[in-house]
Amino acid sequence: MRLKRKDLLGIEDLKLEEIEQILSTAESFKEVSTREIKKVPTLRGKTIINLFYEPSTRTRTSFEIAAKRMSADAVNISVSTSSVVKGETLKDTAKNIEAMRPDCIVVRHPSSGTPLMLAGYVGCSVVNAGDGAHEHPSQALLDMLTVKERKGSIAGLKIAIIGDIAHSRVARSNIYGFTRLGAEVVVAGPPTMMPAGIETLGCRATTDMDSALKGADVVMMLRIQLERQKESFFPTIREYSRVYGLDEMKLKKAKEDVIILHPGPINRGVEISSEVADGPYSLILDQVTNGVAVRMAIFYLLLGAAKEEGK
Ligand code: CP
Repeated sequence: MRLKRKDLLGIEDLKLEEIEQILSTAESFKEVSTREIKKVPTLRGKTIINLFYEPSTRTRTSFEIAAKRMSADAVNISVSTSSVVKGETLKDTAKNIEAMRPDCIVVRHPSSGTPLMLAGYVGCSVVNAGDGAHEHPSQALLDMLTVKERKGSIAGLKIAIIGDIAHSRVARSNIYGFTRLGAEVVVAGPPTMMPAGIETLGCRATTDMDSALKGADVVMMLRIQLERQKESFFPTIREYSRVYGLDEMKLKKAKEDVIILHPGPINRGVEISSEVADGPYSLILDQVTNGVAVRMAIFYLLLGAAKEEGK
């Protein structure tokens, strides 16, 4: 059944049943990407626009691949070569894109709340592909799918999210998602990267990485946003890596069957060592594979399912 919403703007306002519906739909779509001809006709005639105001490798590409595997027409707007550089407002950009009758706009923007604004300007669906430090819902959904696949169930697991919590939209979406599915979420990082009141989202917060790692079933490492280091959130990268970087020694504190996630791009030797990133516990590339299936499910449940049911 189709999601009873026009847009996917965040995990915070998703009901448990909606998260479960997206995950089970994504599981059923995974098989399409293993076929020789990786395509189903489900969204033939639909037009999906990727509007990215920030760089992206995984998210933009997998939204485009997901659209094409569903037989939708996917159009990428490169903001750096669009009329945005001439000063066009978000509203004007939105209205002009809408005039071309797309069915969905996927948007990434450095400012929190931009997808919500955009959704108010246009009648078609809007999907948040990451807004400021607010949310990155499709990332959290692919993370949940990756954990569910490996662990069977998410309820009761200890999930440690470690790094730059303050600037991380991935952390926020994952806190909402994993706690809603019944996991215990602990976030850890330097005090300067720990937003006040983060516990109100339902997680525990600590500056002690060992306590977060102890008995963890899942360790999610976050990218240190080196572009922000000029603001001096920690003394040196070397010191950050020594205290909060994940290496094989620190990983021993977690459960024996721990799995490691990272949304990418990774800074090798900063927040995660190459031995761990490329090691037997790492599911980093499985996350990327699952990103296509999750984004196919999002498009299907927003744009496709109702028609098949004759609604
Ligand atoms: N995980 C993620 O959002 O990666 P990109 O910035 O490459 O899209």
